Amino acid sequence: MNAPTRENLQGLDLLAEINRLKRERNAVILAHYYQKPEIQDLADFVGDSLELSKRAAETDADVIAFCGVKFMAETAKILSPQKTVILPDMAAGCSLEDSCPPGKFRAFREANPDHIALTYINCSAEVKALSDIIVTSSSAETILSQIPQTQKIIFGPDRHLGGYLSRKFGREMLLWPGVCIVHEAFSETELLKLKAQHPGVPVAAHPECPPHIIDHADYVGSTSGILQFAKTLEGDTLIVATEPHIIHQMEKAEPTKTFIGAPGSDGNCACNICPYMALNTMEKLYLALRDLKPQIELDEDVRVAAKRSLDRMLEMASGTVGKGDLGRV
Ligand code: 13P
Ligand code: SF4
Repeated sequence: MNAPTRENLQGLDLLAEINRLKRERNAVILAHYYQKPEIQDLADFVGDSLELSKRAAETDADVIAFCGVKFMAETAKILSPQKTVILPDMAAGCSLEDSCPPGKFRAFREANPDHIALTYINCSAEVKALSDIIVTSSSAETILSQIPQTQKIIFGPDRHLGGYLSRKFGREMLLWPGVCIVHEAFSETELLKLKAQHPGVPVAAHPECPPHIIDHADYVGSTSGILQFAKTLEGDTLIVATEPHIIHQMEKAEPTKTFIGAPGSDGNCACNICPYMALNTMEKLYLALRDLKPQIELDEDVRVAAKRSLDRMLEMASGTVGKGDLGRV
């Protein structure tokens, strides 16, 4: 029988085929919380950026099938170069990565030679290679608190996460002007309307949100931090200001509670679905496992330099994994 092509995948039991290929390839499937529910449900591990990096560094699988976006799969390859790392759709990028071309970032660093670069993991391998320490939303606070007060810092590429940390720590940083298009789309007016309809219901927000959303949050943290907040919530309802696919995990963990996605400017949260994460599908995951492509490939010099800044994060963040927590505002 000929191998199925993209055109005749229709009759395939994709879940069974993905599991078969996973065994044959000795592959592990890692998924971010913003993936479609069917992908989260078949993954070996679902987590936030820090937890996924740790898993990628520790796995003894031969193949890592990364259901997330390109910078996450690149992180897996940087940490585990001997493994084959596949991403179901290589076009799964990130607006933060796009905002920060390596050439411009290098020039910014050169213009500020007395600053260290503390860089959000949502960037290219080249930008990681030009950075001193990488952070994720769940490790940023722990890491920033270890940097001497007198040390000047460039924070990029997310100006909202940088601004949040800067306000919380009372510490000035030079901020790169990037934003996440997903978190940028939440509407303060619509959020206030929603809060008025649900008096007393808390709001949990991701620090990629702009300050006018963070200001209304009872809890601010990474995706796994928000999930943890949802699990320990005393009330039965939570407004969630991050990409709504994470609600799938909340509903699985807390089936009696109600989780409401924070609205975008049109009053519903469709504009808050990450268009890059949404590119990954069961069909593309099946094809990636079958054909072992698209594969992440990195220039070795870039990889080694990027690993230095990622290793610093993993050392400085030890003890953070699982907490996923920037804390209450
Ligand atoms: P975390 O899962 O680390 O909170 O990151 C959120 C995000 O936007 C990933 O792109
Ligand atoms: Fe990038 Fe935002 Fe999508 Fe995360 S949610 S991958 S930060 S665009």
